[in-house]
Amino acid sequence: MAILPIIELPDPRLRLVSQPVSEVDAEVRKLMDDMLETMYDAPGIGLAAIQVAVAKRVLVIDVAKEEEEPRPLCVANPEIVWSSEEKNVYQEGCLSIPEYYEDVERPEKVRVRYLDRDGKVQEIEADGLLSTCFQHEIDHLNGVLFIDHLSRLKRERVTKKFVKAARLRGDDE
Ligand code: NI
Repeated sequence: MAILPIIELPDPRLRLVSQPVSEVDAEVRKLMDDMLETMYDAPGIGLAAIQVAVAKRVLVIDVAKEEEEPRPLCVANPEIVWSSEEKNVYQEGCLSIPEYYEDVERPEKVRVRYLDRDGKVQEIEADGLLSTCFQHEIDHLNGVLFIDHLSRLKRERVTKKFVKAARLRGDDE
């Protein structure tokens, strides 16, 4: 396994729409394992492949608390097949937008169909933090960031901050 570099705002690759995997083969499993290691190291509770610059519809999630046993989820080609009318607000953050947190409203529950690490079809009904995490990560696969759910003013303010920081570091944009 390997810890991969995480790309950050305003890297334009974060806006790419990721492509489905044709199957969960050894290469995809290695990507999942590396992503889990990268996520635990960060630390974070979810990571989409595009955050490590791979435009594939793959993500990893583990919302277990520190004192609990790890519950890693390896997910390929996820699809939200149902979402609840009821909404929930969570304070979200993102490993690609470090040290920025804001409340985001999303459906409280979602049902997600995906392929697991063995390539088997799974369907899970998620609520609470897991539901928010699935929605946040699936957004990444469509080039959507959690700041897109905020007001334009907030989004522009945080984007400017990261553009400026990148410029100071001398990154190309
Ligand atoms: Ni994120």
